Amino acid sequence: MAQQTIGFIGAGNMANSLVGGMIAKGIRPARIWMSDVSAERLAQLSQQHGIHHNTDNNEIASRVDVLVLAVKPQVMQQVCEALREQVQTRQPLIISIAAGVTVANLKAWLGDVPVVRCMPNTPALVQAGATGLYGDPSVSADQKALAGQILGSVGLTFWFDHEKALDAVTAVSGSGPAYFFLLMESMIASAEKLGLDANTARQLVLQTATGAAQLAIASDVGPGVLRQQVTSPGGTTAAALNAFEAGGFATLVDDALHAAAKRSEELSQ
Ligand SMILES: NC(=O)c1ccc[n+]([C@@H]2O[C@H](COP(=O)([O-])OP(=O)(O)OC[C@H]3O[C@@H](n4cnc5c(N)ncnc54)[C@H](OP(=O)(O)O)[C@@H]3O)[C@@H](O)[C@H]2O)c1
Repeated sequence: MAQQTIGFIGAGNMANSLVGGMIAKGIRPARIWMSDVSAERLAQLSQQHGIHHNTDNNEIASRVDVLVLAVKPQVMQQVCEALREQVQTRQPLIISIAAGVTVANLKAWLGDVPVVRCMPNTPALVQAGATGLYGDPSVSADQKALAGQILGSVGLTFWFDHEKALDAVTAVSGSGPAYFFLLMESMIASAEKLGLDANTARQLVLQTATGAAQLAIASDVGPGVLRQQVTSPGGTTAAALNAFEAGGFATLVDDALHAAAKRSEELSQ
C-alpha cells in the first residue's frame, strides 16, 4: 500500500488541499499524479508540490492504482466516459469527492470498478475537514485504508455502511460550515450595531467561534452541559438564549438540516 500511486483528475481547490495534506503526512510526491484542463495550473502545482502532471486524463489513469475524481459534478459524466476504457483495463480504485454523484452513476459511466464515494467539506482547505465515506462492496479493506489515508490527510474521516447516510453527512458537515458562517455574519452585524468597530467585531466573533469549538472538542461533556455551565439564571447569556428559544432556534436548525438532506437526496437522483 505504501508504494501505490495516486492520480487526481481535476487540479482545483480540493485536489490541491488533498495533495498538500498527503505530502505533509509523509506521502512521497513521486507517488502522486495530477491532470487538469489547464497546463498552467498544473505547472504551478507541480512546482509547489513536486508531483507529476499531465493534461491528458487518460495518461494519468494509465499510471495509477488510485484515481481521485476531483472535477465539478456537472462535468463528471463526460470525464468518466472518456476514462472508461483505461479504467476497465487497469481497474484502479476510484475515489469520487463530487457532491451528489452516486456510486451507481459512477459505475454506469466507468464500468464495473471499485468505488469510494466521499463527502468532504471546505475546512479541508485548511486541514480541518470532516469527510463521510462510503465504499461499495467490491472495495477491499486495503483500498478502504488507503482512501481513509488520503481523505484523512485533511481532517477527520467517518465510514458509513449505506450510501444514503451521505445525504445526512451532506446536511451536517458538507453544508455545515455555511451555517456557522451565517451565525458569525449575524453576530458581527449585531456587534457593530452595539457600537463595536467592524474589525474588532469580526475578531471577537471569530475568536469566540474558534474558542467555543476548541473547548467543546477538549471537554469531556457535551455542548449542552457547556452551555448550561456558562448560563447563570437571570444573567446576560440567559437573556440571549431566551431570545433564541423564543424565536424557535432548535426547530429552525432541525428544519434547515432536513431541507439540506432532502435536497441532497433529490440531487443524487
Ligand atoms: N470545495 C469544497 O469544499 C468541496 C466540498 C465537498 C465536495 N467538493 C467536490 O469536490 C469537487 C472539486 O471541487 P473544487 O472546489 O476543487 O472544484 P474546482 O476548484 O473547480 O476544481 C475542479 C478542477 O477540475 C478542472 N476540470 C474541469 N474539467 C476537467 C476535465 N475535463 N478534465 C480535468 N480537469 C477538469 C477545472 O478546471 P476549470 O476550472 O478550468 O474548469 C478545475 O481546475 C467537486 O465535485 C465538488 O462537488 C468540493
